[in-house]
Amino acid sequence: MLIIDTLEMDYGKFQMKVENMHFGEGLHVILGPNGSGKSSMMRGIIGYGGKEMKRRAVCYEGERVLKTHRFLSYLPQNTPRFRLSVGQYISLTADAGNRSLQDSLLERFDLHSLSENTVEELSGGEFKRVQCAQVAMEQKAVLLLDEVEQGLDLKYQHRILKWMKGEAAKKTVIANMHDVPLAMTYADTMTMMRDGKVLVQGVSPEDVTSEMLSDCYSIPLTVERREGRPWVFHDAL
Ligand SMILES: Nc1ncnc2c1ncn2[C@@H]1O[C@H](COP(=O)(O)OP(=O)(O)OP(=O)(O)O)[C@@H](O)[C@H]1O
Ligand SMILES: [Mg+2]
Repeated sequence: MLIIDTLEMDYGKFQMKVENMHFGEGLHVILGPNGSGKSSMMRGIIGYGGKEMKRRAVCYEGERVLKTHRFLSYLPQNTPRFRLSVGQYISLTADAGNRSLQDSLLERFDLHSLSENTVEELSGGEFKRVQCAQVAMEQKAVLLLDEVEQGLDLKYQHRILKWMKGEAAKKTVIANMHDVPLAMTYADTMTMMRDGKVLVQGVSPEDVTSEMLSDCYSIPLTVERREGRPWVFHDAL
């Protein structure tokens, strides 16, 4: 169980404050408009914040933690690419000797044909799949994934969300997302942020209402469920 007792960032023009958030096993999606504080929250969880981080009390398995690298993998929203082959990149931060895991991840993320390419040569979505494989290679108990679905085509969005859901059966997976119907299809819990605050915390996707989403995004939105599938419409369309 990962618990944020309190986390406060202050950038001067923007403040983020979250408290008392509990993340057990499962896929926990964080929604919110641009600039609502989702990435700041993730950076705060791992303790990256410098003097802007005003308060931070994060616990894992009942103990207050300052550093998180022993148990947590973090995939930031933007990551620089290095001149490394796909194979090297995937095992850069993990046990490079685990060849069978690396092979199975190349297979899982359809990367075999790219394994000799450098990551600089890859398309945006191909690089995202490499980053997912790198995170999976680390085999940590908590995953923080910041907009991992962005830039992936429809096939790979579902492939990656299925992988996240599979990991979430035995791990804590926290994912910032913008694709609301995709999030509602796979999430175990949904949390909504706006202006650096949590508006809705840890509800089941079935309990997400039009009012919640309209409030979160400050536009009129309607949620419908057709044959069990979530649809989200902008009311002006
Ligand atoms: N290092 C920083 N210095 C100053 N302001 C910052 C810094 N990092 C983030 N901010 C500001 O904090 C606010 C929240 O940013 P954050 O990246 O957390 O938003 P977000 O919810 O992840 O948005 P997006 O959906 O666009 O990724 C923004 O207004 C941003 O400009
Ligand atoms: Mg962000």
